[in-house]
Amino acid sequence: MKTKNVIDLTDLSHQELTDIIKLANEIRERPKEFGDVCKGKILATLFYEPSTRTQMSFQTAMLRLGGSIIGFDNPQNSSVSKGESLKDTITVVGGYADIIAIRHPSEGTAAAASMYSAAPVINAGDGGHLHPTQTLTDVVTLYNEMGRLDHLTIGLCGDLKNGRTVHSLIKTMSTFKGNKFILISTPELSVPQYIKDIINASECDYEEIGSLTEAMPGLDVLYMTRIQRERFASEEEYKKQNGVFVLDKEKLKAARKSMKILHPLPRVDEIDVEVDYDERAKYFEQTVYGMYGRMALIMTMLKNTDRTPDPRVYPTHPFRCSNPNCISRTEKYLPGIFREAGGDMLLCRYCEGRTLI
Ligand code: NCD
Repeated sequence: MKTKNVIDLTDLSHQELTDIIKLANEIRERPKEFGDVCKGKILATLFYEPSTRTQMSFQTAMLRLGGSIIGFDNPQNSSVSKGESLKDTITVVGGYADIIAIRHPSEGTAAAASMYSAAPVINAGDGGHLHPTQTLTDVVTLYNEMGRLDHLTIGLCGDLKNGRTVHSLIKTMSTFKGNKFILISTPELSVPQYIKDIINASECDYEEIGSLTEAMPGLDVLYMTRIQRERFASEEEYKKQNGVFVLDKEKLKAARKSMKILHPLPRVDEIDVEVDYDERAKYFEQTVYGMYGRMALIMTMLKNTDRTPDPRVYPTHPFRCSNPNCISRTEKYLPGIFREAGGDMLLCRYCEGRTLI
């Protein structure tokens, strides 16, 4: 694999992604053959934000490959609680571990961490921005359950504004030809403009719609998501959005027999429990595909022996990113690095937020 770090799944070429999916399937078929391929290697999981699946999936993946794990899942139990910067934590852990998976509530954290880490960095979720290994989970599932990654009509439903799994999935799937995204949400929780721009610049298409029932008959895949309570300014705002879209047996009557239902989990109440017993429900199988996907990713990344931190040598700007949730707003030593996006617009290299100058 060419890139040392995986901040976004689109860091990988189609060939690299396909190789990882195929390796994941080989491991799934013959797990014993891979039982000690990472012997002597250490994975650090640095989780600054709660997680069940992602952290345990990474840890299980490394243990099943014969490697070892270190890390924290509560920053209050680490030197972070003493005020240690991200830069210092990463510099130290990057010297201990062979590979790092990091999750953080601020957007752009994994990109920032990769600037200071000798060990390769995997983005395990950065605020509402991206979640590439969930997308890897999703594409391994789609490849096996649908037989292809192109020419699919994919309905995405729920919190499309704050759901990082949605953003990552659209970014990756829009690199495959002929996919159509049916974006099902309230106007308040619609997909951010920068994601729509990515679809517009691709060979894919999208449609925004406010009704799950209306969207249902045309879908090959339905990707349900929870409303991201922790990213709302107030409980009142959250309550206005929660419960608007609920998938139940009745609504499924209008769906194709071949449609697959995915969900990154955790589920709150957006999928009725009775749907679990419908053969189209694939969200629990999805978690198992994800573990094999992460095993294949770790194996592949460890083959790259580059241990130089990525200095992100881009022209720096005297500006700060205007996204209040960008990591560069709290970790003040981070240089302002942007990509020119035309006119007076800059695109932050950490969080992809837009800043007008
Ligand atoms: C997702 C996440 O953390 O973004 N969970 C996961 O990693 N499987 C989805 C969510 O929290 O809603």
